[in-house]
Amino acid sequence: MGEIENLPYKEKRYPYHNAYLDYWKKSISNIEEFWDLKARDLVWYKTWDNVLDSSNPPFYRWFVGAQTNINLNTLDRWQNTLIFNKVAYYWEGEDGVSRVITYRDLFKEVNKFSKALIDLGVKENDTVTIYLPMIPELPISMLSVTRIGAIHSVVFSGFSAEALSTRIVDAKSKVLITADSYPRNGKPIELKKNVESAIKLAKDQGVEVEKVIVVKRSGLPIPFIEGRDYWYHELVNKYSDSIYVKPVARKSDDVLFILYTSGTTGKPKGIMHSVGGYMTYVYHAFKWNWDIRPEDVHWTFADVGWITGHTYIVYGPLMHGATEVMYEGAPVYPAPDRAWSIVEKYKVTILYTSPTTLRLLRQYGDEFVNKHDLSTLRILGTVGEPINPDVWEWYFNVVGKGKCPIVDTWWMTETSASMIAPSPHLGLVPLKPGSATYPLPGIEPDVLDDNGNQTPPGVKGYLVIKKPWPGMPLGIWGDPERFVKTYFGKYQGIFYAGDYAVKDEEGYFWLLGRADEVLKVAGHRIGTIEMEDALIKHPSVAEAAVIGMPDPVKGEVPIAAVVLKSGVNPSNELKKELIEVVRNTIGPIATPQAIIFVRKLPKTRSGKIMRRVLKAILTNGIVGDTSTLEDPTSVDELKRAWDEFKLSMK
Ligand code: WT7
Repeated sequence: MGEIENLPYKEKRYPYHNAYLDYWKKSISNIEEFWDLKARDLVWYKTWDNVLDSSNPPFYRWFVGAQTNINLNTLDRWQNTLIFNKVAYYWEGEDGVSRVITYRDLFKEVNKFSKALIDLGVKENDTVTIYLPMIPELPISMLSVTRIGAIHSVVFSGFSAEALSTRIVDAKSKVLITADSYPRNGKPIELKKNVESAIKLAKDQGVEVEKVIVVKRSGLPIPFIEGRDYWYHELVNKYSDSIYVKPVARKSDDVLFILYTSGTTGKPKGIMHSVGGYMTYVYHAFKWNWDIRPEDVHWTFADVGWITGHTYIVYGPLMHGATEVMYEGAPVYPAPDRAWSIVEKYKVTILYTSPTTLRLLRQYGDEFVNKHDLSTLRILGTVGEPINPDVWEWYFNVVGKGKCPIVDTWWMTETSASMIAPSPHLGLVPLKPGSATYPLPGIEPDVLDDNGNQTPPGVKGYLVIKKPWPGMPLGIWGDPERFVKTYFGKYQGIFYAGDYAVKDEEGYFWLLGRADEVLKVAGHRIGTIEMEDALIKHPSVAEAAVIGMPDPVKGEVPIAAVVLKSGVNPSNELKKELIEVVRNTIGPIATPQAIIFVRKLPKTRSGKIMRRVLKAILTNGIVGDTSTLEDPTSVDELKRAWDEFKLSMK
């Protein structure tokens, strides 16, 4: 299929357009047959009796009766092959240090650490929380935990102590893997200090962390508690390089990992992914997205703390024996061309990042891109938010020099890997800037209106997935009802994604952002209710409402309207305190852009805050019908407060 590379990617007729459509149609006509074949690309201890068990919807179970371990497919599979000597990770620290890790190195290290975990008493199905920065010990920890049949819960290292404690408590984790501190924009982030506060908070809620494994990243002094804390290097150095731990045979429908994501209540959801289903879907999607080849150097510029990193930095590339770049630091540190220097240094062929990162990099001007030789690039990917057509054009023309297709991938934490995206694998369909194009084979999305009817072409509706797929979640950890309600409550038996979407005449999908009370700040999902819950913890706050404001770089930023308790005077100090409360409860990613004080919030007669009205006022939109408001004067009040705020910023 070499000839497709020489075609302009935006040309109207594309030779494989119809081939794709036929293949997709066939794939969804019998999904069991389709996934049965796909799963055979992987290594299993025992194959399945049943491809799909649909006896208890929406708790679908994939490859029932099968046994495997994801380590078989990421590491053990490459022993005695040429891939064993290949680079698995080029790791680059923010401070310029680097490490080259082959598949052989990774295999040795994972076996040693697996043995250490067993010796520390970690058992099958135990939950292990991992709170690590972007260092090689993060994938090593994930692989070791899954190798011994335990379940990891990775918590993004940018989350606060309190956010960490909530996740430790919910997962009932007794073992925690962390690091001393790490550099971010040149300054140390003291992870271990956060860990100490989180452990105290968790203990107050009845969960005691018994063992803490600490990776030495920076070497700065940290609190270290003998008997509870263990240095990672001391643990692994006890074992010889030839130590081998057999990957535990896991049932296909066992839990592989939990990953928390924000929803429409104050409590994050522990999304559970399955061993066999996740493995199969991720393998298939990774291949579809990148047409991965032996000589590729793949760089997912994201954090392993999010699903993008789980799938596209750890499990996806390793299952394909691919070489992955892992960069620890901030995008423009110490200079605006850091990202481009990494592409040049490691001869990256596939770059995958978010529109937010692209908008940030673009701000500094094209000369920073053009300073570097980016000629090795062959595919450019994007994920996390809708990509603005002008950013798409910039990525295509300035970064890719008009030669690399843009693979816009729509998906979410719940789906395991991309669901709607063009593929260079079967031959690309013509690209349209801003559209993720078509579904992956085996995936059947649609756009429905409130009554469950398909919307006509060009009409906005809600994105759904009509048939089960192997990468679907097993459920929400400890909360099966919430799983049913959140994803299968709006439409009976159909997965509701929570996104607005529209399909055009040619069947292309255009994703239009969240339809629920969840924001996408710099590509990260943050629940407005989570932020409101944080604000009302402050003794001066009576009520709070958070909405997302469009932002030229981050896509959206949170703004909070706050009603103070009677007798409390608004002040700038109080604003600062409230911002701190949110940062301490969730993390710096949730920092409100502005806090405005009002006397009342727009509410319905039944007392529900009308975020729609609030958002309309704050974004200068049209407020629309206010007849359902309990007190329409709240609108004028808000307008006044917002105008005053804007004046104060001038
Ligand atoms: C939400 C899921 C998928 C990994 C990173 C985010 C939005 C994701 C796209 C895209 C438009 C997108 C959706 C989705 N989203 N990719 N290509 N175009 N929107 O995972 O944190 O679970 O967020 O991200 O709104 O629902 P997540």
